[in-house]
This record gives sequence, structure tokens and C-alpha cells, in this order.
Amino acid sequence: MQLITDRLIIRPWVLEDIPHYQAMSRDVGYNCFNAPGVLLVKDDQEAAQKIKDRIKVFEESRIGKFPIFEKETGSFVGTCGGNFFDLNGAKEIELGYRMMLNHWGKGYATESARALLHYLLHDLHQQKVCGFALPQNIQSLKILEKLGFVYQNDFMWAGLMHKFYEIVPKEISPSVHNQNTAH
Ligand SMILES: CC(C)(COP(=O)(O)OP(=O)(O)OC[C@H]1O[C@@H](n2cnc3c(N)ncnc32)[C@H](O)[C@@H]1OP(=O)(O)O)[C@@H](O)C(=O)NCCC(=O)NCCS
Repeated sequence: MQLITDRLIIRPWVLEDIPHYQAMSRDVGYNCFNAPGVLLVKDDQEAAQKIKDRIKVFEESRIGKFPIFEKETGSFVGTCGGNFFDLNGAKEIELGYRMMLNHWGKGYATESARALLHYLLHDLHQQKVCGFALPQNIQSLKILEKLGFVYQNDFMWAGLMHKFYEIVPKEISPSVHNQNTAH
């Protein structure tokens, strides 16, 4: 699997990504909407284990939060992808994105999320993808709406009220142009 957009390359994790994993675990922008330190890894060994866990999830399910790189420079941009979560006893997939602070405001979250959404709905044939964000996370909510997600309700996640959205295949934006080799 490799998704190529105008400016980005999105691919599964490999062990050589340890420095990227370390950097993202400490980045202020990447972590600004989660509890402090929750993604922190203390050393390369711990980062390697986290990467191995992600590789295993990908091998089993073809989903995951994947690393994103700038095509032109190879710079690590952030992560984007799908994640299983339990919604009232049903196994659903959530689309999530997080960018390194030095790559905010370039449209990269929108560009990568669009490619991932296409991958989840059309390559993996998911019947529905969910998305949610805190009400004050305006950038994130804008991205969901731009991609065609439809607001459903407010719901509690990790003890905080979030705006909850869904999208089904027919609602996907037709402007997706990523190249994908799903397997
Ligand atoms: C949310 C996040 C991924 C957005 O990344 P990004 O690459 O900067 O987003 P984009 O450049 O694609 O911009 C998305 C939209 O938000 C808008 N936006 C950017 N900063 C904004 C701000 N401070 N206030 C309001 N809107 C803003 C952009 O203008 C764009 O809308 P537009 O296309 O109508 O102009 C990034 O801020 C981030 O990583 N945040 C921390 C992690 C996080 O919150 N993830 C989402 C969890 S649900």
C-alpha cells in the first residue's frame, strides 16, 4: 500500500522510521489536542516496539495511522489513517490526522485525509467511516466537513464532549486522485 497525492507520500511504518516516531511523540503541534505525554516514547527501543505494533495491525487489517512524507523534500509531515474503535458495541473505523507543527497550514491534513478516506471506502470497501473532534478544534472539523462527512451528534470520548461525524461511500468527494497499490 502506498498513497501518492500531489505533494505527499503515505505508506506503512517501517523500522527505519524510529527517528520520525521519536520526533512526533515530542512535537508540540502533533500532540496539542491530546493529554500531555500520552504518546511519548522514552527511547529508540520503545519507539521500535510501537512501530512493530503498528506494522502488526496493518498486516492483520490493512488499516492504521500511517506516516506522511513530503514528496519534494522527504520531510516527515505527520500521520493520517484509520483506527478501529468501539461505538455502542459496534466496531467502527475512525479517520484521524495529526501534523507536525512545522507543516501546519499547508493543506497537508486535508490532502492526506482525502487520500486515506478514498483508501478506506474504495480500496478496503468500508461501508462507513467516522470522524470526531473537540468543538474547539476548528481546523479538524473543517477538514471533516470539506471531505463530505456529515455531523451526527455530540458524544463523549475520553471524558470530553466531541462532535461526531460519519461518511458513507456515495458521499466521498470525486476530486480524489491518489494512486494506490492496496496490496
Ligand atoms: C488539525 C490539523 C491536523 C490540521 O492540519 P493542517 O495541515 O494545518 O490543516 P489544513 O492546512 O489542511 O487546514 C484545514 C483547514 O483548517 C483551516 N485552519 C487552519 N488553521 C486554522 C485556525 N487556527 N483556525 C481556523 N481554521 C484554521 C485551514 O484554513 C483549512 O481550511 P480551508 O481549506 O477552508 O482554508 C493540525 O492542526 C493538527 O495536527 N492538530 C493537532 C492534532 C489534531 O488536532 N488532530 C485532529 C484530531 S481530531
